[in-house]
Amino acid sequence: MNIIITGASKGLGKAIAEIFADDNQGHTFFLCARNKEVLEITGKELQHRFPRINMYTKVCDVSDKESMQEFVSWIFGLTNKIDILVNNAGIFLPGSVHNEQDGVLEKMMDVYLYGTYHLTRLLLPKMMQVKSGHIFNICSIAALQAYNNGGTYSISEFAKYGFSKNLREEMKPYGIKVTHILPGAAYTDSWSGSGIDPKRIMEAADIAKMIYAAAHLSPQACVEEIIMRPQLGDI
Ligand SMILES: NC(=O)c1ccc[n+]([C@@H]2O[C@H](COP(=O)([O-])OP(=O)(O)OC[C@H]3O[C@@H](n4cnc5c(N)ncnc54)[C@H](OP(=O)(O)O)[C@@H]3O)[C@@H](O)[C@H]2O)c1
Repeated sequence: MNIIITGASKGLGKAIAEIFADDNQGHTFFLCARNKEVLEITGKELQHRFPRINMYTKVCDVSDKESMQEFVSWIFGLTNKIDILVNNAGIFLPGSVHNEQDGVLEKMMDVYLYGTYHLTRLLLPKMMQVKSGHIFNICSIAALQAYNNGGTYSISEFAKYGFSKNLREEMKPYGIKVTHILPGAAYTDSWSGSGIDPKRIMEAADIAKMIYAAAHLSPQACVEEIIMRPQLGDI
């Protein structure tokens, strides 16, 4: 399969790449993130651990339309077939509407909503032509419920979830599956320095396992939504 994952240099994105790479099917990966060095280290690490895969990495900032256009042209220079797209890139910025810095909403919406919207639109025509593919939109439980200090992060996750739900309806006749992933806390770099016990929350691999399973059903079955929380509930 040809698999595109945004924000794949670490955290959930890397864990998702890992689980597909580990099945020994020789998938081809197109991974992006903003930091070139970290992305290349991840790409090389995965290529080394899973020699059957084909690993391509390219710097791309999903909040920048031009950067995404370059990313997509580069992908189409290598393949025309997209089997899986994982819209995962994101940054966690807690805050409150009433006192957060001016411009934070725009920054978050650029990543979560506009980034996902534009990248998906650039890739969709080729997927629609062949009537196949699976799009996973990594949202959050913050898209389901407002909470204290959620601020623009939660607002942007609500927006991305809304996008994903609309896309699911739209893509039904085109044979393209759309799955909204709504995880609670899972231990990644977003949590390092928080003082949280990694055992209190989920592992990045937990989310990756569910995505892998959803990607392996019959063509006529679509997992629309996956909600996951730590066993002890939200923190
Ligand atoms: N971990 C959780 O508890 C949790 C819970 C619910 C939802 N989520 C969602 O899951 C996704 C991944 O989170 P994570 O915890 O794995 O975060 P993470 O460990 O901080 O990793 C984020 C990844 O996204 C990349 N990235 C950030 N901004 C980007 C941009 N503008 N363009 C391209 N790549 C970008 C980062 O690399 P660069 O910095 O180099 O760009 C990195 O590879 C996010 O959308 C997050 O909201 C996470």
